[in-house]
Amino acid sequence: MKITFLGGGNMANALIGGMLKQGIGAADISVIDPSADARVSLAATYAVSCVESAETLSGVGNLLVLAVKPQQMREAVAPLVGRLGDAVVVSIAAGLDMATLSRWLGGHRRIVRCMPNTPALIGAGITGLCALPEVSDDERAAADRLLRSVGTTVWITDEVRMDAVTALSGSGPAYVFMFIEALEQAAADLGFTPEQGRQLAIGTVQGAAALAAQSAEPASVLRERVTSKGGTTEAALGIMTKKGVGEGIVAGVKAAETRGRELGKLLGAI
Ligand SMILES: NC(=O)c1ccc[n+]([C@@H]2O[C@H](COP(=O)([O-])OP(=O)(O)OC[C@H]3O[C@@H](n4cnc5c(N)ncnc54)[C@H](OP(=O)(O)O)[C@@H]3O)[C@@H](O)[C@H]2O)c1
Repeated sequence: MKITFLGGGNMANALIGGMLKQGIGAADISVIDPSADARVSLAATYAVSCVESAETLSGVGNLLVLAVKPQQMREAVAPLVGRLGDAVVVSIAAGLDMATLSRWLGGHRRIVRCMPNTPALIGAGITGLCALPEVSDDERAAADRLLRSVGTTVWITDEVRMDAVTALSGSGPAYVFMFIEALEQAAADLGFTPEQGRQLAIGTVQGAAALAAQSAEPASVLRERVTSKGGTTEAALGIMTKKGVGEGIVAGVKAAETRGRELGKLLGAI
């Protein structure tokens, strides 16, 4: 399996690092990136072959991973039109729908669209994927293996749901960071040092997430178990509910989904 990356930035680095750890050979990976710094760094770190532009490649291989910014995409893919053969195009560009990509790729229809998130950079991402009907089961499996090298994957049948994936898990790390910030603020107000606050806040989020992941019980049951009548947790959750913390999160995620749809339309109109 030969894999070409268009764009050799943060996400390409994470994916290439993950793929090499899964046993894919560096000789099977090529990267196209106009930035000399990016090429030198990728070649030195992963021993993959790097080229400045698509024109110098004889072919893109079996998988072409589109890893440039959405606003760079149209110009970046133009040199590849008519040169894709049977390659499966795996796009990780946020917000860019497959119909637009297909149009920019001269009608190519073997496209998988993915929405990874930033924890992918440390191999702990979660990615939503969907594909056009022309992508076979084996080709889906190849795209799935690629994204599983940096975390877990969830397949979505209807592409329209990708804006919701973006709103939940794509933007989601920011919601969690905000929660950590608030815990750290509370820790500072209660007299802890910043380092103690950081340890207590992050340790709590990590531990609670790991417990929720391992438990067969829903989060609501785990929450109730920590909340004894008249106790400290109940006092905290009462105030948080009154302040609309839960409702604010649900409304925020829905606002992100709406914004994702608007931004997608703008991209598709280019
Ligand atoms: N970072 C994330 O956590 C994350 C999460 C989900 C989805 N994504 C998606 O992943 C994609 C890549 O994000 P990123 O954070 O890896 O971006 P990035 O670090 O900016 O990487 C993009 C790379 O593509 C290069 N590039 C620009 N024009 C090009 C062209 N014509 N041909 C080939 N390469 C070109 C850029 O070079 P220059 O720097 O010189 O422009 C840069 O090295 C984006 O579409 C983003 O929406 C990222």
